[in-house]
Amino acid sequence: MILNLLKKDLKDISCQALIVFTKSSAAKDHLATIANSDLGKKYVSLLEEKTISGKALEAVTIREANYGGFRNLIFVGLGEDKVLDHEVVRQAAAAAYDAVKALKVKEAVISFDGVKGTAKEAASFVKALAEGLSLASYTFDQLKSKKVKATTAKSKSEEDSEDQGLQIHVVSHSAHEKSFKAAFQEGIITADCVNFARYLGDMPGNLMTPKILAEEAQKAAQGTKVKVIVWDKNRIVKEKMGGLLGVSLGSTHEPRFIIMEYKGGKAHQKPLVFVGKGLTFDSGGISIKPSAGMEEMKYDMCGGANVIGTLLAAARLKLSVNLIGLIPSTENMPGPGANKPGDVCFARNGKSFEVNNTDAEGRLILADALSYASEQDPGMIIDAATLTGAMVVALGNIHTGYFTRDKEVKSSIEKAAKISGELVWNMPLTDQHLKDMKGTYADLSNMSSGKGAGSATAAAFLEQFVGEGIPWAHFDIAGTGWAVGNRLNYCTKKGASGVMLRTFVELAKNYE
Ligand code: BES
Ligand code: ZN
Ligand code: ZN
Repeated sequence: MILNLLKKDLKDISCQALIVFTKSSAAKDHLATIANSDLGKKYVSLLEEKTISGKALEAVTIREANYGGFRNLIFVGLGEDKVLDHEVVRQAAAAAYDAVKALKVKEAVISFDGVKGTAKEAASFVKALAEGLSLASYTFDQLKSKKVKATTAKSKSEEDSEDQGLQIHVVSHSAHEKSFKAAFQEGIITADCVNFARYLGDMPGNLMTPKILAEEAQKAAQGTKVKVIVWDKNRIVKEKMGGLLGVSLGSTHEPRFIIMEYKGGKAHQKPLVFVGKGLTFDSGGISIKPSAGMEEMKYDMCGGANVIGTLLAAARLKLSVNLIGLIPSTENMPGPGANKPGDVCFARNGKSFEVNNTDAEGRLILADALSYASEQDPGMIIDAATLTGAMVVALGNIHTGYFTRDKEVKSSIEKAAKISGELVWNMPLTDQHLKDMKGTYADLSNMSSGKGAGSATAAAFLEQFVGEGIPWAHFDIAGTGWAVGNRLNYCTKKGASGVMLRTFVELAKNYE
């Protein structure tokens, strides 16, 4: 899909479809003002009988409307003015995209001026519009036999540039304004990186091994200011990453440790380090998972994928900030060499842990990555991981739970999430949680000795690998990393969501 911004009068455009936004309180007046037209009058009966009600996300298509130069019309509701925000616009954009797709047209015009808002809101709304359209356009069909020839391990962005089937022109009086244009572009770039992260997540475990994940990161970073360094198994051994190595031992696919660096800030700025769990398939290992739903564990690298996408987005948006992305990547499989319950491993920072359940593997690979992150003299460390089933129980697929003991980090996260529109929830993390993670034979156990609070005890385990005094937060995206399409219409029903990438970009933008 190609998206562009146009400053033109609707009267001077002819196109197969026009999308106009309607609001529920004053839909009639609102329509009547569009391009000084008689659109409102023409559809007065539809307004009166509330076929067009302006309700949020309602999309009413009128085929063969032949209104001005437009053959078809689509009315998309924004709901009431007083609750209009960028998330409503993002979802309305996705509803508009679906309606355009259903029309099977190749070109459509969106009249943005019906959205209104202050100048600041207008920029945030047009960014959300671009995001909603681009996010809704994501499909994962490269493994269907019709397409497979062209794509063995091709990146989603390459795919999109080939699929130039649909053009959407967003028409606005503000289209020439610098900040408006920049916001629109930002929306496109961010969504593009979310879509790339989704593609990485949606690929099955056999086609997204640690090696392939690292190659995808390298390939995607080409031509950007992101430097990618990949450590193989030998290097991981040399670097004393006993957690990552231990988890990898049951698999025939060797692990990788992916390091991404983006230096957009001043030389003296301490880096903001993002760490993402890159578990390309989690069978549970010797403590094997039940087979029902196990296929979903291909998504266990979503945290890593979303960190890769964050670094790419930062570079493409030319953010003036220094970032590092770290993705420990491995499979978790049963095999002759696999970690066994009771085994003890040593993480990079020298701490030892008992592997009392090989399915609690995410924390083991993150232990090494967080230790390495702490050595980089970071200003802040943020990690994202599909870490615990307990998080799914606690918050479902609505909020992403995050853990931090740092008030400033908490306030930056809340601020960033408000701007991104992604829902987050601050979870408890205390010394009580750490107490339950003490080992009998080693420093720590990867299993809690207590009952419940599985997400918080996992976070307490991770905290043991973060250097003293370093501001840190952990995001458990187990519930929100995929299958959120039942709540967010710009996400697919069964696929990866790319969650937290948009919030991470906001965090990076505001990081000092
Ligand atoms: N990858 C899983 C967590 C997960 C579960 C993500 C469901 C998404 C949906 C993780 O490695 C895991 O298996 N965690 C265990 C830990 C337990 C054994 C302490 C869990 O949550 O059951
Ligand atoms: Zn597991
Ligand atoms: Zn896992």
